Amino acid sequence: MKNHPVLKAARGEKTDYTPVWIMRQAGRYSAKYREIRSKAGSFMELCRNPELAAQVTLLPIEEIGVDAAILFSDIFVPVEKMGINVEFVSGKGPVLSPVVKTVADVEKLSVPVPERELDYVLETIVKVKKRLSDRPLIGFSGAPFTLASYILEGGSTKDYRAAKTAMWNDLDLWRALMDILTRVVTEYLSAQINAGVDLVQIFDSWMGVLSAEDYERFVFPYTERIVDVLKERHPDTPIIHFGVNSSHLIGINNRLNVDVIGLDWRTEIPFALERTNKSIQGNLDPVALFADDSVIEEKVRKIVTEGLNARGHIFNLGHGILPQTDPEKARFLVKTVHRISKEMR
Ligand code: CP3
Repeated sequence: MKNHPVLKAARGEKTDYTPVWIMRQAGRYSAKYREIRSKAGSFMELCRNPELAAQVTLLPIEEIGVDAAILFSDIFVPVEKMGINVEFVSGKGPVLSPVVKTVADVEKLSVPVPERELDYVLETIVKVKKRLSDRPLIGFSGAPFTLASYILEGGSTKDYRAAKTAMWNDLDLWRALMDILTRVVTEYLSAQINAGVDLVQIFDSWMGVLSAEDYERFVFPYTERIVDVLKERHPDTPIIHFGVNSSHLIGINNRLNVDVIGLDWRTEIPFALERTNKSIQGNLDPVALFADDSVIEEKVRKIVTEGLNARGHIFNLGHGILPQTDPEKARFLVKTVHRISKEMR
């Protein structure tokens, strides 16, 4: 497993082809996913069911031939165990309650012990590892800022007002919340690695809404702490760091002790490579999977070619695959990345 192309690319070693996986690869675009999900009840119940979650994790390996599986779960799974209710309300997205507003509210939250309170996640990992011997399994967590933005708003937000005003007006609240989330994420990822995941991705999906100055001051130190502790405990496990719309933060994030920087489709790879010497992941526009095959092929060729100048490159979409995507297009993408990247070498 150590020599699998996904892990080699993450470490910056040469590979025979560009490995590829797809964010949200186990999701609603797949009929089998929708079928298994309907058996589980709600989405959160599916996340808590190790057998069904393992089946869903493995679907894209069979259905579209990706080079890695990603644990089927959600960034809110550990949040629930901190003492916050999470519900997906149709038309509204995630709803979290109670909404955290004060330091006293943060003091009521707890740091879940993964082996005890998130045992179903670890059990899913063990089940997947037993059935998937030839490809790596990716573990993941949301990062403190992205989680805090939901916890302070009580759900999705367009302007991130609650998170930004907390960091600017109420530093005690901000520090208390970021501090507990840092501990939650560290222990959660560490437990996933102990259970068998081969690499991890930290989703700081919404960090790009912050100015570089605010990011560096109010967010970066916490992510840095998580990464440093993980690297100390698990030096051989690669770490991917990802967020959308965050090209202005690449230079800062290059100081994290991570192995791979994830890029969305708005970031030109040459622009990124002027700012980071780490491996990169990405970055096809998810909407490209609705274009003609010849367009997909042309875009893949550009990304693969530019990726060859990176220390290592893991191909991915720039964000999650859209539910309306034709699975046939996802399969075509994986085949095309493999074919073109072999031709180029
Ligand atoms: O990538 C994968 O396939 C692994 C599984 C995964 C899911 N969510 C499954 C999921 C991962 C890594 C996530 C991460 C996640 N979840 C993020 C960060 C990633 C990103 O998008 O940048 C965020 C912000 C969430 C929170 C979340 N979960 C939202 C906003 C939603 C969408 C709600 C909606 O109505 O579309 C979810 C739901 C979710 N998470 C689904 C899946 C497959 C769809 C659930 C369903 O209806 O079946």
